[in-house]
Amino acid sequence: MSTATIADIVGTARDRVDGRLKVMGAATYPIDVTLPGLAHAALVQSTIISGRIRDIAVDAAERAPGVLAVITHLNTPPLALAPVTAIGPQPLPPFQSDAVLHYGQHVAMVVAETREQANAAATLVDVAYERDTPLLSFDDPRTSPVFHPWTPDYDRGNVRGALAAADVQVNETYTTAENTNNPIGLFATVAIWNGDALTVHDTTQNPHGARDALAATFGIDPAGVRVLVPFVGGGFGAGLRVWPHVPLAVLAARITKRPVKVVLTRAQMFTSVGHRPNTIQQLSIGASRDGQLAAIEHVSRSSIGMEGELINLITYGTPHAYACPNVSTRATQIRQSIPTPGWMRAPGEAEGSFALESAIDELCYALGIDPIELRVKNHAHVHPDSGLPWSSNALLDCYRQGAERFGWSARNPEPRSMRNGGHLVGYGIARGALGAYQPPCKAIASIRRDGTAFVRSGATDIGPGPYTVMTMLAADCLGVPIDRVRFGLGDSAMPKAPQEGGSGLTGALGNAVHATCVSLVRAFVNLVREDERSPLKGCRLEGITVRDGGIQITGEPARFETYADMLTRHSLDELTVEGESAPPGETSSATMIVQAGRFIPYTTPSTGTRAHAGAYAAHFVEVHVEPDLGTIRVARVVSAVDAGRILNPKTARSQIIGGIAMGIGMALLEETVSDRTGRLVTTSLAEYVVAVNADVRDVVVLFIGEPDSMTPLGTKGVGELAITGIAAAIANAVYHATGTRIRSLPISIEKMLGQPATA
Ligand code: MOS
Repeated sequence: MSTATIADIVGTARDRVDGRLKVMGAATYPIDVTLPGLAHAALVQSTIISGRIRDIAVDAAERAPGVLAVITHLNTPPLALAPVTAIGPQPLPPFQSDAVLHYGQHVAMVVAETREQANAAATLVDVAYERDTPLLSFDDPRTSPVFHPWTPDYDRGNVRGALAAADVQVNETYTTAENTNNPIGLFATVAIWNGDALTVHDTTQNPHGARDALAATFGIDPAGVRVLVPFVGGGFGAGLRVWPHVPLAVLAARITKRPVKVVLTRAQMFTSVGHRPNTIQQLSIGASRDGQLAAIEHVSRSSIGMEGELINLITYGTPHAYACPNVSTRATQIRQSIPTPGWMRAPGEAEGSFALESAIDELCYALGIDPIELRVKNHAHVHPDSGLPWSSNALLDCYRQGAERFGWSARNPEPRSMRNGGHLVGYGIARGALGAYQPPCKAIASIRRDGTAFVRSGATDIGPGPYTVMTMLAADCLGVPIDRVRFGLGDSAMPKAPQEGGSGLTGALGNAVHATCVSLVRAFVNLVREDERSPLKGCRLEGITVRDGGIQITGEPARFETYADMLTRHSLDELTVEGESAPPGETSSATMIVQAGRFIPYTTPSTGTRAHAGAYAAHFVEVHVEPDLGTIRVARVVSAVDAGRILNPKTARSQIIGGIAMGIGMALLEETVSDRTGRLVTTSLAEYVVAVNADVRDVVVLFIGEPDSMTPLGTKGVGELAITGIAAAIANAVYHATGTRIRSLPISIEKMLGQPATA
């Protein structure tokens, strides 16, 4: 074979392998699942905010046409709380008492032959409530702060003393509104019992987590539960927890002895699958006249529901953001009568970075120092706690190259000094960061006698593109043409994968797929190494190149054999191996990295010599503000991103653009609003305004930096990175344009008009 193709597909811009299926309507989301005998459930939700169910009359609903069952707290058996997972506690199981803790809480589920019958009967459920006074303010004396192990206090140095001694101080309070995830795909669950075996099609970002939670809730063996979710119509974190409608669908299927489907309405999506809680954050920063940071204090309060717990990382990034000797953070959650919050893209870190990066900007103006210069001056060249060098950190290059591309030097530092026609023009910058995270992950890989490869793992693809990048990676690692590689996911019967969340899946799954494919090639090497009839006799992993669906002795194109020929001669249908990722910073002597079809021994820097770095971004934003109307346009964004090795620049860029779009929403538009009584007002995408195409204009994404050294693959997360810092960059640009500092998200027109410019 003279035209050997040694593909390095990884690193090239590729379309989604599932794109065609999706645009053809052929991708099966949980909402699309149907089967013979399927019954349909509708949820009845509380119309009060706080209190108890005094009486719930279900007779009329039960007599309605087609109704199979009406489930309430009165006929629900005890359901166990699912155990705490690696990403924290699950919501409490539903229908366990008469208590009503928030507006929109499920109070009954009606199961009927058709969805229309279920919906009609649901209107006949008559609930009598006893109301009490909801907790709707952090300052309500009846509320209680929640202390749990997820957000420990952090202290470095002596913040109080350093603040008092600082030349210049910024002390400000920042607030962020409740935001709701709003994936386009309505969450759906289809539950099917077959004897004691349970199959669930569910909108989840974590099939194994959902399996384990349901097994615990119903007291059954996890081996008897299978969760399927080949496609997810977006999640942004909403699919990370097992929300009450999921066990309710399972319970309904058990009671009716029928497969049962429940689909949340758009309005129910606002109250039933979590949201980003609101925050009040106080930032105190002290610095010397020349801009050296002396102290940062970050104190956050955020809301949480009346029951349950939630990890919220509002102050998490602050201690390591800058080389500042004195830092302290406190994060408290305050119980409120609100729908149970959850995670939404960069949970906590999106809000925390808004406050921190706004306050840093305020410091720059107080000192008269350029915002890039101050950030560069206080860059954390080493990990501020351990003093170890980062495993990778190109943030300084992000500032430099981003500024260059954006044209930062054209900025007049004076607020309200730049104009474009009738518009005020502002330039803003902020730092974004997301911590390193790589949970354990397993995979399994096969090559079959027809020359195809099938690699799979029980992960999900909520949109970022694991289907695509894992197919690319497997093709490179195995030397099998990409159109002969299939990647499978979305099935808890596949090897255990973590949630797609925390921007950790590409690293976790990628390193698992990489390790598993290396093992599979090794298995083929072992198969033919002593094989007199193989041209590869005597081969070793270090001496081969994979290409064109087979193995070649490196440098000897004639000594090549396809996997299919090897299998055929050995009368095998396939070779299959299982594998898993090594934790970051840990590699065995047998670890290889695949480059251009060759297998190269790979070791990480020895443990304890590097701090595992996350991903970094420098966001540059230009806003145009109409001075009389207060309307703000984000005219352009340049995001310079260090996310380590980029497996597919096209899908990675899409993640950054998506994070920017969501960040524009967070900064200017998105707000989940309740009225004075605690009743939710924004219950559709007409009232809850997200950024649309017209709001997301000129966006440039620059990928900068090197593969991270802690793992063979060298990736860092891109899913959540862009929404950290972007809201602050926009707010900082608004200040530069107008001289008006808005410390409260969203920066609505009302706020712009309510606070006349001061400069
Ligand atoms: Mo995300 S909130 O890690 O899905």
